[in-house]
Amino acid sequence: MSDILNDQLIESKPVRLEKDGHAVCVVRVRDEIFAIGDTCTHSDASLAEGDVTKTAIECWLHGAEFDLRTGQALTLPATTAVPTYSVIRNADGVTIEI
Ligand code: FES
Repeated sequence: MSDILNDQLIESKPVRLEKDGHAVCVVRVRDEIFAIGDTCTHSDASLAEGDVTKTAIECWLHGAEFDLRTGQALTLPATTAVPTYSVIRNADGVTIEI
């Protein structure tokens, strides 16, 4: 069973998922789907509320950017990466591996 259905994955519109005690931010960019930790490492804001530009997501609170592919913090004020998760594609959506 998928965690998120295909029709919920709108281009560059992050989706927040709670799974096994982890908050995950899932983003579709063209044909790729990325899953990273949803909690900004600067001060606990939800990254799923941020804006996506190409393969980066910007935290809405203070503007730190994270690489959706690697989880790396790209800009201050964040300096620590968020975790990344594997995405398994199913016929009806995706499953995130915690
Ligand atoms: S909480 Fe995300 S940049 Fe400050």
